[in-house]
Amino acid sequence: MLHRLHRISALLISLYVVFHLANHLAALGGVETHIAFMQNYRQVYRASLVEPLLLACVLFQVGSGITFIVRRRGQRRGFFDRAQALSGAYLAFFLLFHLSAVLYGRFVQGLDTNFYFAAAGLQPGAYPGFFMPYYALAVLAYFTHLACGLSWLTRRRLPTVARDRAAIGAMALGLLLAVTIVAAFSGVLYPVELPAEYCLGNCSEPPVR
Ligand code: HEM
Repeated sequence: MLHRLHRISALLISLYVVFHLANHLAALGGVETHIAFMQNYRQVYRASLVEPLLLACVLFQVGSGITFIVRRRGQRRGFFDRAQALSGAYLAFFLLFHLSAVLYGRFVQGLDTNFYFAAAGLQPGAYPGFFMPYYALAVLAYFTHLACGLSWLTRRRLPTVARDRAAIGAMALGLLLAVTIVAAFSGVLYPVELPAEYCLGNCSEPPVR
């Protein structure tokens, strides 16, 4: 039963995440494109019934995922079985940290948690050594976790070679997306001028927080 609920909740979260990552890829077209995409998309996921459901699903996903890891501790065999637990553990850490930061930024600091909010920590002089792997591993872990789950679900219908190839392909796609998104937010593709309210002490103008 818990596995079935974990899968249903994963599906609901994925509906959000696919567009969330597409939103971040829109940063390839510039900061304005990213912000315009997010403003439109927010009308869906910030709707009064949708956002609490999404946040509840994330909390349930983290709790049920940790339960599975603890229950099968020391019993996992093979690359994909272990990769599923490892990527799930990282996603649990990331989601708790990421959501706390976004909600704190929005409700306590009163910030618009847009492109600049995520980009601030990645700029030179801030904490790129932490935030680059932090975001990149999140995208990679999401694709890895999904790939391992789908590989297991199709184990009776598809040959092992086909499942392994598809899973490795999905992980490679995740890595490519991770590097592309982090590059755009870090200012590698074009300069990122942070408005003063987002500065973490690394802007020419003095920070206001
Ligand atoms: C490069 C990677 C990522 C960046 C830069 C990023 C950035 C952001 C930002 C700026 C927000 C605030 C959105 C808003 O204010 O409307 C946000 C919200 C959120 N992100 Fe991410 N994100 C990343 C990856 C992920 C991944 C991989 C997941 C899940 C697996 C995720 C899940 C969420 C969730 C659940 C929210 C909360 C939505 C809400 O209710 O406001 N993010 N993210």
